[in-house]
Amino acid sequence: MATTVVNPLREGLRLARTPEPSTIVIFGGSGDLTSRKLMPALYNLALQRLLPATFSIVGAARQPLTDKRYRDELHTAVGEHSRTKPLNEEVWRSFAEHLYFVGTPDERGYDTLGQRLDRLDQDLGTNANRLFYLATPPAAYEPIVKAIGAHGLRGSTGWSRVVIEKPFGRDRESARVLTETIHTVFREDEVFRIDHYLGKETVQNILVMRFANGIFEPLWNRQYVDHVQITVAETIGVEERAGYYEQAGAMRDIVQNHLLQLLALVAMEPPAAFDDKSVRDEKVKVLHALRPVDADRLSDHAIRGQYGRGFVEGVAVPAYREEQGVAKDSRTETYVALKCFVDNWRWEGIPFYMRTGKRLPKRSTEIAIQFRVAPHQVFSREASEGLDPNALVLRIQPDEGVSLKFGAKVPVQGIRIRTVNMDFDYGASFMVDAPDAYETLILDALRGDATLFTRRDEVDQQWAFVDPIIDAWATAPAAPPIYEAGTWGPADADALVTADGRAWRKA
Ligand code: BG6
Repeated sequence: MATTVVNPLREGLRLARTPEPSTIVIFGGSGDLTSRKLMPALYNLALQRLLPATFSIVGAARQPLTDKRYRDELHTAVGEHSRTKPLNEEVWRSFAEHLYFVGTPDERGYDTLGQRLDRLDQDLGTNANRLFYLATPPAAYEPIVKAIGAHGLRGSTGWSRVVIEKPFGRDRESARVLTETIHTVFREDEVFRIDHYLGKETVQNILVMRFANGIFEPLWNRQYVDHVQITVAETIGVEERAGYYEQAGAMRDIVQNHLLQLLALVAMEPPAAFDDKSVRDEKVKVLHALRPVDADRLSDHAIRGQYGRGFVEGVAVPAYREEQGVAKDSRTETYVALKCFVDNWRWEGIPFYMRTGKRLPKRSTEIAIQFRVAPHQVFSREASEGLDPNALVLRIQPDEGVSLKFGAKVPVQGIRIRTVNMDFDYGASFMVDAPDAYETLILDALRGDATLFTRRDEVDQQWAFVDPIIDAWATAPAAPPIYEAGTWGPADADALVTADGRAWRKA
């Protein structure tokens, strides 16, 4: 009987390893990301006993706070945002004893922070292992990294790592400059660039589906696949983030990172192992092979739009330009659709259609691999009327799961064929709540595993792909077309696909 060959050196590389005793320093320690995502994730790790045996978490921010006040504020925030409810007060109390706050309003604040870190190391025996988490607005990244270097915040023993939130730069050039600055203090293998999509269970499952099973991979190429559709649809609008979003738009906010990472995972070759180098080497090859969009024929490949007024899930919502903090004549895109090609042996000529937008009719992130139709139809046209081509749909969120669509005989006399679904549903199969992406990513960073973080060359290629499109739109005379909120985006986005004799899936 054939057995699976497991490489003993690789086995267990990403399996549960308790992180070493360490200190997590969160810059932006009293900010929105910390209260909504990072602290709830850390608390849930504590609940699962996945944090190191000894650890401390030090929040740093400009305005001063006492440790007690910090703990009290986070108690409320975590109670509200934790994925597990209600808060386990006993676990919270022992978790909160590890929380500290240091104000860094000026340069002196960084010295105070350094002294506090040294003291905590001595008291707890954390060997100066330090994870610096930059949860601030991007403008603060470079000054903070420089301050870490200038004030000697890296410990004299142990390891130091830095976690950086997206957006990483606002174009290729600024991302390169940011990386250079970071490299004056941290080596590349100490830099953990977050794309939280990579921490999602269902996104990791793309690789498991493809590479832990023998049946999909033989079909996963230009011979059997007709095209691929990747959708990141949101019902929410810009919310309270106009200050950031006006500068970013959907291209920088979602396409440059989440969408291109999903594409890379779907299109990459099998890695030699599931480790940071092998996986990222393969992803970056895909990003290198992405065909640049021809700026002279932009509308054949890239469509943008901006939401107008409309109804989402039955509720009247304002236009993007009516949102607080948005310019009345804003040209920021809230929707992008793209037709891309990966110019390599596996995918030559196969379109990857991608779309993302805010204020669409429903929240849905999915990847659909649409297969070619059967080469010869033995059944009458009438029998197979309305039959869709086979598709494998990876549902990232919500309703996480996988569906295989194929034709089946309708149970009536004679032959009638209808599309049916073979479904795998995460919730029903595993009966446990998946961890939040931030739990996975923080734990990986503490363990020093960078597999689910983006490397400098990936980010560089992602910008290389989107920059020319962003530039062309910035200088285009026309503003983005308006689509009604609660619809699937501008009409031109449909044309992008129908021009090829295809249609967007009803996600
Ligand atoms: C963030 C974007 O990276 O991802 C937001 O900045 C977007 O605009 C969010 O809403 C979507 O993430 P998720 O996990 O809700 O799909």
